[in-house]
Amino acid sequence: GKGGHRHFMAKEIFEQPQVIGDTLNAMFNPTRRSITLPDLPFDLAAVPRITMIACGTASLAGLVGKYWLERFAGVAVDWDLASEFRYRAPVMAEGGLAIFISQSGETADTLAALRYCKQHGQHCLGIVNAPESTIAREADAVLPTLAGPEIGVASTKAFTTQLVVLACLTIALARARGVMDRETEARLSGAMTEVPSRAAEVLNHDGRIRAIAEDAFVPARDVLYLGRGTSYPLALEGALKLKEISYIHAEGYAAGEMKHGPIALIDEHVPVVVIAPSDPLFEKTASNVQEVVARGGKAVVFSDAEGVKRLRDLALDAVALPAVDPFVAPILYALPVQLLAYHTAVAKGTDVDQPRNLAKAVTVE
Ligand code: M6R
Repeated sequence: GKGGHRHFMAKEIFEQPQVIGDTLNAMFNPTRRSITLPDLPFDLAAVPRITMIACGTASLAGLVGKYWLERFAGVAVDWDLASEFRYRAPVMAEGGLAIFISQSGETADTLAALRYCKQHGQHCLGIVNAPESTIAREADAVLPTLAGPEIGVASTKAFTTQLVVLACLTIALARARGVMDRETEARLSGAMTEVPSRAAEVLNHDGRIRAIAEDAFVPARDVLYLGRGTSYPLALEGALKLKEISYIHAEGYAAGEMKHGPIALIDEHVPVVVIAPSDPLFEKTASNVQEVVARGGKAVVFSDAEGVKRLRDLALDAVALPAVDPFVAPILYALPVQLLAYHTAVAKGTDVDQPRNLAKAVTVE
């Protein structure tokens, strides 16, 4: 059942503190206070290059993973949409690692990409939620997301648990390659263990986000989402979520791209969602907010107390989420964008769990 919620999507959003914890605990050794992956049938430390492949929301988890793996593990990551990858004749060096992210494990393009990579000498790792699925079976190894069945067509808890697995992979790979000092490893692992309780705090903003959705988003025809660094994939994910369940046109942009075209769209009718945790890129995003507001744009800012203090006077609304290590921010900032899409769709009266034209698993191309 829906566990007392109106929709599966709401139930699944509110399950995230639990399933994030479950997914993390499977890879966390509490006595050593460190993250350990299950044994893999290849040497992770020897991997020269990574290819990250998926569709839709899973691909956006993969894009966060690319940023993490390059920054902390120092390995080059090629990121691709499965539907492009499989028809692109990609050039791959023997012995690379290819990662396939999929909730259902049955997405046709992702599966075809996996088969291509197997034929081209890659070690194939699945990050999969459905353990009995084709991708789980055909991959050389699987790191499971323990989200439990996801019924709502809009992916929510699968996304955040995919991020948890990718974060753990990043820490484990950095350690295996000897490129992360103990202090950094302890800091990142510690930040990970706090995510379940911080996620529960984020969900306390539900009522506030619902009010924002009803006031500013229900009447909108177009919405922009902006972010930098790992908040950029979150901007893409926020826009995807809003499109698919509320049918409002939305676009995610790297905040630094605004000046290169999309700022022309800004007027008082276009809400702009800004994903801006306090991190080394915050001031750059803040100046993009200034530019948006100067052109009449209505900014809705998701940040922490410090960031909200800085942007409150500029923004239409600003929600202060708990302050966290920037490493884990993408996991937590997924929640408000999910809630924003959910409440907008509910207020518009769309079929939230079964949006028009969409299937839960795209098993044909
Ligand atoms: O089952 P998969 O994770 O392979 O599915 C990938 C996409 O079809 C999926 O994430 C889709 O984009 C969602 N409906 C987004 O909410």
